[in-house]
Amino acid sequence: MADKATLTIDGQSYEFPIITGTEQERAIDIKTLRGATGGVTTIDPGYKNTGSCQSAITFLDGEEGILRYRGYAIEALAEKASFLEVAYLLIFGELPTQVQLDKFDKDIKAESHVDEDMKKILDGFPKSAHPMGVLSALTSALIAFNPSSVNVDSEEDMYRTIVKLLAKFPVLAAWAMRKKKSQPLDYGDNSLGYVENLHKMMFAKPNEEYKVDKAVIDALDKLLILHADHEQNCSTSTVRMVGSSHAGLFASISSGICALWGPLHGGANQAVIEMLESIKEDGGDTKKYMAKAKDKEDPFRLMGFGHRVYKNFDPRAKIIKVAADDVLNQLGIEDPVLDIAKGLEKEALEDSYFVDRKLYPNVDFYSGIIYRALDIPVEMFTVMFALGRLPGWIAQWKEMRENKEPIGRPRQVYTGENFREFKEVSKR
Ligand code: CMC
Repeated sequence: MADKATLTIDGQSYEFPIITGTEQERAIDIKTLRGATGGVTTIDPGYKNTGSCQSAITFLDGEEGILRYRGYAIEALAEKASFLEVAYLLIFGELPTQVQLDKFDKDIKAESHVDEDMKKILDGFPKSAHPMGVLSALTSALIAFNPSSVNVDSEEDMYRTIVKLLAKFPVLAAWAMRKKKSQPLDYGDNSLGYVENLHKMMFAKPNEEYKVDKAVIDALDKLLILHADHEQNCSTSTVRMVGSSHAGLFASISSGICALWGPLHGGANQAVIEMLESIKEDGGDTKKYMAKAKDKEDPFRLMGFGHRVYKNFDPRAKIIKVAADDVLNQLGIEDPVLDIAKGLEKEALEDSYFVDRKLYPNVDFYSGIIYRALDIPVEMFTVMFALGRLPGWIAQWKEMRENKEPIGRPRQVYTGENFREFKEVSKR
């Protein structure tokens, strides 16, 4: 196989190396392009063909429907690992030993207190505020209470900062929900595991003993694992981009939360359930909505369908679909929107519009149905995604800083006015 690519511009040829990843993915290394060609650049809106970095964290093959964290198949991790183990794996590169896992858990617990003054900031938000906005703002506000900047060359310093964020983030997420429900803020219980404690912080009532079905915690754990990383997606690229200016970890994650919020990204899980609800309210006519999704004059899209990278089944969607059935069965819940979702999926998989464009259900298609079965309010769905994605964002930020990547600063092709003389306002 060739290890060089040749580009000819105005009759002159230039050679660029081809680099190959451990899974034989190939990329033309154009680092020297502008210098060699006297200023020619590339253009690739949405970065559909552009690799922004070399990364050893997550491998994804969209054609084959493969997803692996640090080499481990998502199916095995979702089945056998805990979210905390997966967080450790993503961030530090290896599955933890029992001793490492216990220390990690203990260190997180030791940092799980959030400064009481943070509550005043939360108080300032109207109850109508979307919890994603609140979570992003509170994550950014954490900087004021933890002002010392992280020394990225110190393993100890990095570890402490990472543990701090993993500890405080679920508290903030739970507070964002409790504020909306006018419930007292809860600090959880350090005798519980990470995911159970998150659930307690979200749902414990001040006047009742906290109890939870194991099926609920297992489902939550699995969902968080499935969301934990997805290589260079929009929010992760945002985290890396913001971090590349040497902004701190908390600031970078706060930006990632905003990127995740949009309905084309993490916000799709909220959009899916709202879509399914409105189809139900409209009489459950899935054919009508399929036609709308295919009509180019209609802005409606089948939310939870399609993916930039997967041109085959999203492996996470397969696991979530089974989990949705299991959880609803175990909790004895019948949700008519699950049937609508299955009906839409069946029709889409047989429809040439979706088949030709390789549009399959993505991770967000069934996740909302599980969240709803767990009593999680719709506006919290994307917050749940953020809770799951946190270790991935941290791992990617850490890798970017450790690899000493340069500041992210893309080029453009200018298409505006050429030079014009300035005219005084009276002469315009
Ligand atoms: N419903 C109807 N048509 C669609 C859909 C959809 N959900 N998704 C893509 N298409 C069509 C699109 O109109 C285009 O058609 P044509 O070739 O005729 O112009 C073709 O499929 C290719 O779509 P695209 O928009 O160019 O693809 P993209 O890679 O830029 O966008 C996407 C990917 C995920 C933004 C898009 O599929 C979408 O908007 N899906 C719905 C939102 C959603 O579920 N997002 C969650 C993504 S997974 C979780 C995450 O990343 O956070």
